[in-house]
Amino acid sequence: MSNSESKYNARIIAFGKYVPDKVLDNKYFESIVDTTDEWITTRTGIKERRILEKGATSDLAVKAIQDMVRRFNIDLDTIEVMIVATVTPDMFFPSTACVIMDKLEMENTWGFDLSAACSGYIFAASTARAFIESGLYKRVLVVGADKMSAITDYTDRNTCILFGDAAACTLFERTENKNDGIIDELLYCDGSGRNHLYMLGGGSLNPASHETVDKKMHYIYQDGKAVFKVAVIGMAEVAYEIMVRNNLKPDDVAYLVPHQANLRIIEATRQRMGIDPEKVMVNIHKYGNTTAATIPLCLVDYYDEGKLKKGDNLILASFGAGFTWGGIYLKWSLD
Ligand code: UT7
Repeated sequence: MSNSESKYNARIIAFGKYVPDKVLDNKYFESIVDTTDEWITTRTGIKERRILEKGATSDLAVKAIQDMVRRFNIDLDTIEVMIVATVTPDMFFPSTACVIMDKLEMENTWGFDLSAACSGYIFAASTARAFIESGLYKRVLVVGADKMSAITDYTDRNTCILFGDAAACTLFERTENKNDGIIDELLYCDGSGRNHLYMLGGGSLNPASHETVDKKMHYIYQDGKAVFKVAVIGMAEVAYEIMVRNNLKPDDVAYLVPHQANLRIIEATRQRMGIDPEKVMVNIHKYGNTTAATIPLCLVDYYDEGKLKKGDNLILASFGAGFTWGGIYLKWSLD
């Protein structure tokens, strides 16, 4: 049962995904930077990632939403709010949410972008939950979409091998069943981590200039080792804590749905939870780190493989820039 005092819960009634066709495998990276397939595979678990050659984050998102419409016959006019989690908006403003709504002619919807990096989907799902549980709205669409290739320096072997482009979405709907959908959440920020993972240029601190371009300030910078140390603890602890808070034993958990940044972080989280390896959703080998899209992309892939069933207890967990991290206990609502 949900631990919130609302008479409503927010459950997922539809979803969709989109990954671009263009594949960059580890061999390709061997040809452009000093790396090996072996290093990338053992250090990260990544084998391939998808790249959007033409278009922007909104185009990824539009295709994911169209996929949802095809699968579930959703009338987009019934969606009241759209939250787009992204760190690669089409532009600073207007929001990517507005761009998507225009492209899909969604005239009954309002919405906005949410910036929480790799925790974007979890923070946006929590926001959707709050909108629904407050009684204000019945249907809220959460989109996780990132065109990471737009901010990746393909001469930097530390980061370029990690990221890919993708979008996935889940539609949350109000239910009066308190034992369905989002049951619990735990969200955290620690701004002191902001110096380890960031993009310096283009904002009000360092507006775009010849100098910011020359200094490669419009690309992701990550101190991988520093992030790794806190990510391992942050993601493992939040997943464990949410299990304990909800009296869930390892046998009660159907799946851990982790942010896909590094297989070793995912494995540490699994061990802390005490669950079996087959209860962990993993698709990092296919897509790399797609930032806000990783978690909903896992949900869609595992559903498509017939591995998810109604009532499954899922623990969603993330860690990302900020630092931001969080966990959600979600009861799966679809057969
Ligand atoms: O999603 C948002 C949050 N982000 C994360 O959770 C990512 C957290 N960090 C990580 O996943 C890992 O730190 C990385 C995968 C980014 C790096 O793995 P690592 O085991 O921490 O490697 P490292 O950064 O400590 O580098 C080890 C060595 C270094 O060489 P030296 O200094 O030991 O000679 C690097 O220069 O590996 C070198 N290296 C590479 N070698 C081959 C770094 N990148 C590469 C590469 N190929 N692509």
